[in-house]
Amino acid sequence: MDIERIHTPVMLERTLELLAPALEREGAVYVDATLGMGGHSRAVLERFPNATAIGLDRDTDALAIARERLAAFGDRARFVHTVYDGIVEAVRGEGLREVDAILFDLGVSSLQLDRAERGFAYSKDAPLDMRMDSTRGRTAAEVVAEYSEEDLRRIFRDYGEEKLAGRYARAIVAARAREPITRSAQLVDVLQAATPAAIQRAGHPAKRVFQALRIEVNEELTVLERALPAALGLLGVGGRIVILSYQSLEDRLAKRVLAAASTSTAPPGCRWNSPSTARSSRSSSGVPSSRARPSRRRTRVRNPCDFVPQNE
Ligand SMILES: C[S@@+](CC[C@H](N)C(=O)[O-])C[C@H]1O[C@@H](n2cnc3c(N)ncnc32)[C@H](O)[C@@H]1O
Repeated sequence: MDIERIHTPVMLERTLELLAPALEREGAVYVDATLGMGGHSRAVLERFPNATAIGLDRDTDALAIARERLAAFGDRARFVHTVYDGIVEAVRGEGLREVDAILFDLGVSSLQLDRAERGFAYSKDAPLDMRMDSTRGRTAAEVVAEYSEEDLRRIFRDYGEEKLAGRYARAIVAARAREPITRSAQLVDVLQAATPAAIQRAGHPAKRVFQALRIEVNEELTVLERALPAALGLLGVGGRIVILSYQSLEDRLAKRVLAAASTSTAPPGCRWNSPSTARSSRSSSGVPSSRARPSRRRTRVRNPCDFVPQNE
C-alpha cells in the first residue's frame, strides 16, 4: 500500500503554524489524539526537532501503520492504543502531567474508508461493522438488528440530522423482520426503497444514516465530550490545541467546549470566576471552565472578587 499516495494530512501547514509557538521550545511534548496513519505527527516531528510525539488511536491497524511510518524517529514517537477520552491516562503513562500541544483530527481515516471490509462506506458492499476498534464493541449490524424503531429514529435524527429518520427506522424494522440486514448493500437498498422519488436526487439516501450508525457504534460524541475538557486540562501554560472537525455535531461540540474554557466569567477586575459564575459555566456546557478553579473547599464572602480557593 502506498500511503504517501492515498493519504494527505488535512490542513497540515495551518495546523503546524497554529501549534508552532508551543512546540518550538526544548523538550516540547505533542499529543496526537487521533494518530491515524501518522501524517500530522510525522510533519510535527520533522518540523520541530526538539519535540516528542505521543500518538493515540483506537484502531490497531492505524497504529501498526503509524509505528512503521514513524520508526525513524525512535523514542521521539510513542504510541498508545486507547480511545481518546483516555488521554490523561495515556499522558500519565508516559510519566508526564502536562503537555504543550494537542491535535484532534476527528472522524474516520481514509484507511478506514478505503478498507471495504470495515463497513464504513455505503458505496462498497461489506459486512455492516463500522467499529474503529475492531477488537471490541457492538457492530453496526447489531445496532440495526437490535435497536427499537424509536431508538433507530432517534439516532438517525440526532446523529445524522436526517429528516426522514422516522421513515427509515420504520423501513428497517419491516425489512429486518423478513431477513437479517448484515451487509451495507442490503441497508442501502432498504433506504433507497424508502426514499420518496421526489428527493432521490438530493444526495445519497444512505449518507446520513451511515454517519449516524458510525457515531452510535463508536460513541463518538459522548467520547469527544469527555475527551476535550480532559485534553484542555493537560495543557501547560502557553499550550495549544487544534481540533479539525468535519461534521456539524462535532463542530458545535468543539466550539462550545473551547468557548466555555476560554471565557472568563469573573466580574471585571476580579482574579477568579466567582463561585456562582464558575458553577453556571460548568453546567451550561457540561465542561468546567479552565478559569474556574476546581470545586475544592471554598471561602464564601460577600464580594465575589474576594473569592479564593482555600488551598491557593
Ligand atoms: C482522520 S484520522 C486521523 C489522520 C491523521 N491525522 C493522519 O494524518 O494520519 C482519525 C483517526 O482517529 C481515530 N479515532 C477516531 N475517533 C477516535 C477515538 N475516539 N479515540 C481514539 N482514536 C480515534 C481513527 O481511528 C482514525 O485513525
